[in-house]
Amino acid sequence: MLLHIPDVLTSDEVAGMRKQMDGAGWTDGRETVGPQGARVKRNLQLPQASPLRKALGDQVVAALGRHPLYHAAVLPLRTLSPRFNRYEGGGEYGFHIDGAVMAVDGEAHVRSDVSCTLFLADPEEYDGGELIISDLYGEHEVKLPAGDAIVYPSSSLHRVTPVTRGARIASFFWVQSLVRDDSARRLLLEMDTAIRKLSADGADQASILQLTGVYHNLLRRWAET
Ligand code: NI
Repeated sequence: MLLHIPDVLTSDEVAGMRKQMDGAGWTDGRETVGPQGARVKRNLQLPQASPLRKALGDQVVAALGRHPLYHAAVLPLRTLSPRFNRYEGGGEYGFHIDGAVMAVDGEAHVRSDVSCTLFLADPEEYDGGELIISDLYGEHEVKLPAGDAIVYPSSSLHRVTPVTRGARIASFFWVQSLVRDDSARRLLLEMDTAIRKLSADGADQASILQLTGVYHNLLRRWAET
């Protein structure tokens, strides 16, 4: 499931983060990939150990924690502390697949079920830099306003096209979901969305209660903690 999550950060929050990142020491993005990724990755990242990366990452996680659609869609169990990247001057990241299990010093292992990119530069600021996600239905091109995020299955092949003008700045991270299976997560999101709409429309309370019970019993069946 490829899902656009709008308004994760306000424009003021994006501006504040961008200001802090402007003066930061960006380093080669190949710090955090294996040999397969290193062959096709040309970008910059905030160093994994940098206190600024950690602080901004915490800010991203806090913002996601306030977003009901993100929660309903991702059902997060463990989130790897967000990272930040910058593509400019032709920088790109060729087709690759994200590692299945990630471990970072001091953090638990995270199985990557869901990949997330949070855009921190507006599309007008740069040319190129589309995130291309390839799945059974073809290739999907994603370039979102600053403050918006895309979530997609970590099992997808994906790439970032060369940035030929300006700079593409984003945060990216992986999440282990309570529900490993992407199609099961999608069913739960659809049911959750329908229940919310029925409630907002003033539908019969007993029926809403019954559907809410079905939602939780499916989640109980599928959740792994
Ligand atoms: Ni990737």
